[in-house]
Amino acid sequence: MSVEKVEAAGDPKAEEGKVEKGLEGVVALESSISSIIGSTLTYRGIEIDELAEKATFEEVVYLLWFGKLPNRAELADLDSRLRENSELPEPVYQLIKSFPKDIIPMDGLRSAVSVLGHYDPDTAAKPDDSEANLRKAIRMTAAFPIIVTAIERVKNGLEPIKPRKDLSIAGNFVYMLDGVAPDRIAIRAIDTALVLHADHELNASTFSARGTVSTLSDIYSAIVSAIGTLKGPLHGGANEAVMKMLLKIDDVSKAQQWIKDAIAHKEKIMGFGHRVYKNGDPRAKHLRKMSEELGKLKGETRWFEMSAIIDDYVSNEKGLLPNVDFYSASLYYVLGIPIEAFTPVFACSRISGWIAHCFEQYADNRLIRPRAHYNGPINQHYIPIEERV
Ligand code: COA
Repeated sequence: MSVEKVEAAGDPKAEEGKVEKGLEGVVALESSISSIIGSTLTYRGIEIDELAEKATFEEVVYLLWFGKLPNRAELADLDSRLRENSELPEPVYQLIKSFPKDIIPMDGLRSAVSVLGHYDPDTAAKPDDSEANLRKAIRMTAAFPIIVTAIERVKNGLEPIKPRKDLSIAGNFVYMLDGVAPDRIAIRAIDTALVLHADHELNASTFSARGTVSTLSDIYSAIVSAIGTLKGPLHGGANEAVMKMLLKIDDVSKAQQWIKDAIAHKEKIMGFGHRVYKNGDPRAKHLRKMSEELGKLKGETRWFEMSAIIDDYVSNEKGLLPNVDFYSASLYYVLGIPIEAFTPVFACSRISGWIAHCFEQYADNRLIRPRAHYNGPINQHYIPIEERV
């Protein structure tokens, strides 16, 4: 293919052809929602370590959306609005029941959220109407765990369970999965996992959401774009891949040799490495601790033990550190969450960050439209079909 220098519509950068593949290191916009500085992650300036220990997911939702921690009245108001909106329109339940039994739950979530938008009472509101967007945000955040657990139950031939008004988002998630009153420890573990996954600066799915909103499309469309992006194994899908790897290894005594062989065969080890964190993901240590504690508590320590061996080996041999998806896999597994629901759990949390970024984008919008450097052929001509080889 002949590659010649091309006039790139008068844009010197595009003409010059200096491309940062994968936009690595490119600062695309200003944001005051979350920051990553070295190995420190903050939401609205508060370190994730503090939030993981002290905050509930509902408090974090408020923090991300409104820029400050809620006082008692503000939190109670958000809580009651989430609970009031924790009912899915019947056609969404019917849609979930009509899904093929082997549907990938992230695909089911994507379709269900899209259809949920048709029944939103604010569906006709202007896309950048901030009051209507807050109401839509509350409805979607309340609906995500209901949809995810309903998909899971229907796949297993069971009726979906409606949420309880007295439980938090984390509590209802556990309850709606198996209908059993959740224990305090399981609720706290899920709640902390939701806190840890809530936002992460300009990750791939958040970028998708902001790109969609920047065209002044609606917030449901943005969230549907984001769900599709989160699904990929290089993003939220990694937690499922980690658990599949642990199940394949199956035995603590085989873990080191297994990982050694995988590295020798140049395989990618899921749950390790990060585009931004090169000295460790600050969320991983919390998930490691919870995975260890929950494993002991449930009398099922081997998944954590295997994970710890793999972590030691990969860190020492490859210099790669675990990311948020590594220990969340063994944690969710001992909590009894089905593997294919791991990435949907991530989505139940990240919806809060996606929405905060949509609000921020609408408030000071400029169309996100980067350039590409063209490196294809030039001076070509139309050839009649009968003359083509
Ligand atoms: N296992 C093995 N090698 C890995 C690796 C992993 N998980 N992550 C990175 N590497 C290696 C790459 O092969 C590459 O080596 P090379 O320079 O010899 O080719 C080097 O480390 C740099 O990695 P690269 O893929 O260029 O980094 P990135 O910034 O594009 O990728 C991730 C970041 C997250 C996509 C990548 O680390 C990855 O694929 N991890 C596994 C998936 C995962 O856990 N995703 C969840 C992220 S939160």
